[in-house]
Amino acid sequence: MGLLENKVALVTGASKGIGKQIALAYANEGAQVAFTDLNRDEVMEETEKELLAIGVKAKGYASNAASFEDGERVVEEVIKEFGRIDILVNNAGITKDNLLMRMSEKDWDAVIAVNLKSVFNLTHAVQKYMIKQRCGSIINMSSVVGVSGNAGQANYSASKAGIIGFTKSVAKELGSRNIRSNAIAPGFIITDMTAKIPEDARKAWEASIPMKRGGKPEEVAKVAVFLGSDLSSYVSGQVIHVCGAMNC
Ligand code: NAI
Repeated sequence: MGLLENKVALVTGASKGIGKQIALAYANEGAQVAFTDLNRDEVMEETEKELLAIGVKAKGYASNAASFEDGERVVEEVIKEFGRIDILVNNAGITKDNLLMRMSEKDWDAVIAVNLKSVFNLTHAVQKYMIKQRCGSIINMSSVVGVSGNAGQANYSASKAGIIGFTKSVAKELGSRNIRSNAIAPGFIITDMTAKIPEDARKAWEASIPMKRGGKPEEVAKVAVFLGSDLSSYVSGQVIHVCGAMNC
């Protein structure tokens, strides 16, 4: 019996990277998994196939997490198809790094829309179903730099810090309905997002991590399983760092 048997999860930005590993880990624990990404392309189809091969119901949806209307639409579609949503993982995120001096308004707005507004969009759309069910777990992907800040990432750090305020507020607002809200703050995780960082900068990052390595997306997924499952039934309003002791 898996830890997430009879639960339905919706994971955003999950065709690849951390989101994909969360979707797979959820499926391996028996959850039915709906997931989104920007496009229904071959990457999404491959992830959908891998989920179905585990033997659970699964479906990928093209949906822009930064769009309020898209959020409403995809949640309605998932409810129609799966009947409920027990776990929402707001994972979709982007970086548009630059020194503040060179940061454009466009890059500021894009990062805030995809990383922060998306969390409002999806949580807003899902809450009424979770309230009706009188249960739910909302998991928001923050970052260690949302707590510590990082030069060259003012937009990204601000979006990830905003997620923490949102997470704690929702935990207080919806706690009486048995809905939990937590954030995960990963450190340096090896995905396409960090592959963009030049080799020498990446080595310097890794050397500065007390555990002397970047994390694997699967290591973030294990924490998402904990927060999605009843193992964490009294854990809410928390930020769990998954960072090999970096920036702690
Ligand atoms: P990734 O770039 O490998 O995957 C992100 C996924 O989100 C992609 O499939 C992308 O297409 C999708 N996406 C982007 N914009 C979207 C939108 N508007 N609507 C729907 N989907 C969208 O990134 P990774 O590393 O897997 O990151 C996942 C989350 O974890 C992000 O929120 C990121 O900020 C966060 N994170 C990652 C860290 C890392 O070191 N990789 C560290 C801390 C946090």
